[in-house]
Amino acid sequence: MIQIQDVSFKIGQCQILNHITTEIPAGKLTALIGPNGAGKSSLLKQIARLEKLQSGEISIDGLPVSETPTEKLALKMAVLGQQTVIASRLRLCELVSFGRWPHHHGRPCAKDREQVCLALETFGLTPLSGRFLDEVSGGQAQRAFGNDLRAGNRLAFAGRAAQQP
Ligand SMILES: Nc1ncnc2c1ncn2[C@@H]1O[C@H](COP(=O)(O)OP(=O)(O)O)[C@@H](O)[C@H]1O
Ligand SMILES: [Mg+2]
Repeated sequence: MIQIQDVSFKIGQCQILNHITTEIPAGKLTALIGPNGAGKSSLLKQIARLEKLQSGEISIDGLPVSETPTEKLALKMAVLGQQTVIASRLRLCELVSFGRWPHHHGRPCAKDREQVCLALETFGLTPLSGRFLDEVSGGQAQRAFGNDLRAGNRLAFAGRAAQQP
């Protein structure tokens, strides 16, 4: 569960978020709805710690995002942005293996490779794992990034799947 407690956020003199308190339950699909410029992305950036909290508190499964070490938070949190910038010289298996970075810090062992294989298998990407991202179809690349809503659960991101212990 994500808990948001009295979060406010300003850019210069402009009040973007004003005392937001809410909970986002685990295991459900939650939609944040509002007009353009309402502050949806700003709130998501605060949750993902892409913007520093100015006031209030946010926690993910009880871990306060402002204080929890990145290493620990990275095992809980995966973020998929609105736009996916494709680094075309990246192979699918390399993209997925980024999910295991908090475990291996650049030195993957057999267990890490096993989890990457499992994630690729889960998303039906095994036959394409050696391909560069610009060598697969749009839909296949979306599956690798996790934009495939059919997966619709906590593992809806191959990199996230690779984050399993
Ligand atoms: N870097 C920025 N500098 C100034 N204003 C910004 C910046 N980023 C966002 N805003 C403003 O903050 C408000 C909320 O933006 P945003 O959270 O992106 O809205 P939403 O995602 O709901 O469309 C908008 O009015 C936007 O213009
Ligand atoms: Mg937005």
